[in-house]
Amino acid sequence: MPKLVWLNGVVSPLESATVHVSDHAHLYGDGLFEGIRMYSKKVFKLDEHIARLFHGAKHMGFEQMPTAEYVKGVILDMCAKSEFDDAYIRVNLTRGTGLGLDPKNIDRKPNLMVMVNSLALYRPEDYEVGLHVVSTSYRVIPADALDPRIKCIGRYASNIMAKAEANSKGAGEGLMLNHQGNIAECTGDNIFLIKDGVIRTPHPSSGILCGITRQTVIDTARDAGYPVEETFLTTFDIHACDEAFLTGTAAEIIAMVSLDGRPIGDGKPGKITQHVTEIFRQQTKGGTPIPVVAGTSV
Ligand SMILES: Cc1ncc(COP(=O)(O)O)c(C=O)c1O
Repeated sequence: MPKLVWLNGVVSPLESATVHVSDHAHLYGDGLFEGIRMYSKKVFKLDEHIARLFHGAKHMGFEQMPTAEYVKGVILDMCAKSEFDDAYIRVNLTRGTGLGLDPKNIDRKPNLMVMVNSLALYRPEDYEVGLHVVSTSYRVIPADALDPRIKCIGRYASNIMAKAEANSKGAGEGLMLNHQGNIAECTGDNIFLIKDGVIRTPHPSSGILCGITRQTVIDTARDAGYPVEETFLTTFDIHACDEAFLTGTAAEIIAMVSLDGRPIGDGKPGKITQHVTEIFRQQTKGGTPIPVVAGTSV
């Protein structure tokens, strides 16, 4: 199945799409990205992803920005052009093109890329049995260095090293703490712990990406009658909890069944995790429908 890329207005097959070598994210990580899922030709939480992207661009001071409606149109049109029914959509937005750190010396004309691809992080059986997670030696970048609410490309170098550390220990994910020793998140997912029927997740000021799947789970779990707290948690809370799960657009919801070889609860995906996952799967059917005929903006 051909995988298509839209780059600054030009649509090409994935294999032949190339970025300028002086793109500021290529040189310095000076860009933002979103990973979005399409389920059965409906794009899940599209407005939320666009909002996060544009808040990030405003915070980082990107100039000459396209409108949110334009970017949304490009994404929907690319999904319409794609032969995938279920896809992982990658959106990259960079500050512009030019050499040197100083933004005033580059063209400050954002480069926008939309790729419609597929991505399965884990095998179906991993969702049945859950993930083994290990602690990593990497801390999340503090908010006074780079606010973690911005999905900045450059920030991911440390998450990738943490992921490699987890891989070297044979684990499915790696846990990252913050500089206070509190739990922040895993390398590409947010974390939830359940104890005595109460669902807890690190507060945004723990240094997490405010995941869109995380917010979806918080809202739907509350609607389903579960108390949900955004709070400060340590590894003690993982050792003491009954169930745990991870959330992310790529991973969706997956149970976490051990930390550093110590089982969580009975070492199996728990009942509340399973219930929340069922509700989430229902919700993924309710995304933004793509236009029937490829539209206007690409
Ligand atoms: C570090 C990190 N935390 C959490 C998440 C989950 O965010 P979302 O649910 O918006 O995909 C991601 C997703 O890429 C991530 O990279």
